[in-house]
Amino acid sequence: MEDLVMHADAKSTHLLCLTIALLAVVTSISHASDPSPLQDFCVAANDSKSAVFVNGKFCKDPKDVTADGFFRPGLNVPENTSNQLGYVVTAVNVNNLPGLNTLGISLARIDFAPYGLNPPHTHPRGTEVLAVLEGTLYVGFVLSNPGPNMKNKLFTKILHPGDVFVFSIGLIHFQFNVGKTKAVAFAGLSNQNPGVITIANAVFGSDPPINDDVLAKAFQVVDYLQSQFWWDNN
Ligand SMILES: *[C@@H]1O[C@H](CO)[C@@H](O)[C@H](O)[C@H]1NC(C)=O
Ligand SMILES: *[C@@H]1O[C@H](CO)[C@@H](O)[C@H](O)[C@H]1NC(C)=O
Repeated sequence: MEDLVMHADAKSTHLLCLTIALLAVVTSISHASDPSPLQDFCVAANDSKSAVFVNGKFCKDPKDVTADGFFRPGLNVPENTSNQLGYVVTAVNVNNLPGLNTLGISLARIDFAPYGLNPPHTHPRGTEVLAVLEGTLYVGFVLSNPGPNMKNKLFTKILHPGDVFVFSIGLIHFQFNVGKTKAVAFAGLSNQNPGVITIANAVFGSDPPINDDVLAKAFQVVDYLQSQFWWDNN
């Protein structure tokens, strides 16, 4: 009996040690890297007195916070999609809903005209989960190079109202309204400021333009592409 108790004690001590060791590993992992960026960059200031920017936003004094800090109305209103691509994104992120600061989440409403296209783009800081409310969307994303053994593989799907689709952080994706009627979707994004890189705009519409030789070597047809007007609704 005593043997059994001692054995059980030794066992639980062993388990405790294991748990502590595991916690130590997890803790050291969570401290092993810098926090995720919350904006495109945060260039270090040399003088701490002039370092007025942080990674993200400053927090308001809690006693000055009201319910309005967590509130943004108007996402029921369709936006005007009369533009070259026939789509418009209404983003709700930390820049227009300050209560999102540090919470790692944001939202967007996307309106599509018939045959409107949200062109290939990525969110450098956020995964996106999209729910279709109205219309029919042809959506897709492309794996990275190298992807998991499937270099630049394309995944696509036709979505109807009520359908949900997820786009992993950083991957190039698009949404195309293939219906004769308008479409509406809502997207949740896993960052307070997920950012958007619209591929054509970033490559061919940068300011100032990327050197012709660089683009000519990379893309072969350049002058024509650079001379286009790259509509950006994001
Ligand atoms: C930062 O400040 C130090 C001390 O004033 C100076 O020696 C150094 O050159 C500065 N570095 C940069 C990158 O400005
Ligand atoms: C939508 O935008 C277009 C182009 O800017 C404009 O001509 C049209 O009047 C707008 N429609 C509404 C309902 O605001």
